[in-house]
Amino acid sequence: MQFRARILGAAAGGGLPQWNCGCENCRLARAGEIPSQTQSSLAVSADGENWAILNASPDIRAQLAATHELHPTGLRDMPLRSVLLTNGDIDHVAGLLTLREMQPFTLFATAGIHEVLAENPIFSALNPSVVTRANVALEAPAEIVPGLTATLFAVPGKVPLYMEGETVETDLVGEQTVGVELKTDTETVFYIPGCALLNDALRQRLRGASLIFFDGTLWRDDEMVRAGLGQKTGKRMGHMSMSGEDGSIAAFAGLEIGRKVFVHMNNTNPVLRPGSEERRAAEDAGWIIGQDGMEVTA
Ligand code: MLT
Ligand code: MN
Ligand code: ZN
Repeated sequence: MQFRARILGAAAGGGLPQWNCGCENCRLARAGEIPSQTQSSLAVSADGENWAILNASPDIRAQLAATHELHPTGLRDMPLRSVLLTNGDIDHVAGLLTLREMQPFTLFATAGIHEVLAENPIFSALNPSVVTRANVALEAPAEIVPGLTATLFAVPGKVPLYMEGETVETDLVGEQTVGVELKTDTETVFYIPGCALLNDALRQRLRGASLIFFDGTLWRDDEMVRAGLGQKTGKRMGHMSMSGEDGSIAAFAGLEIGRKVFVHMNNTNPVLRPGSEERRAAEDAGWIIGQDGMEVTA
């Protein structure tokens, strides 16, 4: 068994370019001067034949078309066995609506995330006689494809934007935002596309992993404010930034992780520009900037 991952979408919600955005990166992507990126999703397998998709992005139709490993192998057979969700955000669940063509698979998520789906009746388009919704308790391993188990664990985060009330806790620890520990018989890989804070317990857990995919939403916390795109900081959105003393690059230093890959990059993030100073700094610190179609083995 050899762990394989293919990044289906490396961008955060909105993608690169985002439909209504005229920021520098979005303009460069529209002009074809930097690579475009679709929204957040990762395909994983242990045998190369059976695949799970971690988070179903609104771009899943194009992502599947671009990924030969996931193409149909018969009239209505295809290698997708399961979909796993790490939160209820639109960029991670809207693609479920595309997977509604009576295709059997198992939908893995915490009970808390399944509740969010159950409150939105449009998701009953996934016919329960065909798509099994499996509740996964935190810290309880589930086999999501042959030879690969996923253990969900709470990471600091917040409820989905469309569920926010008057006051918002941005570092809740519970079932609404989870990381995934993926294990084959020989490797341990982590997928954490949203994380507000890397606390000591998380650092301990991640230490020594073969490979990690981590929240790369923003380079700096006030990046969107400085770009004139709104008032939201990364912290307000439940995402820690890459740079700075309390950033992810600093937080991962010394954790002895085999390979570290940033995913879920917002379109404002300067690391999305090959040749930028920030990208060089991230790469010098041992990070790989994820991009659509990238294959990563453990
Ligand atoms: C996030 O990652 O913060 C969310 O996906 C934002 C959103 O819902 O657009
Ligand atoms: Mn997101
Ligand atoms: Zn933009």
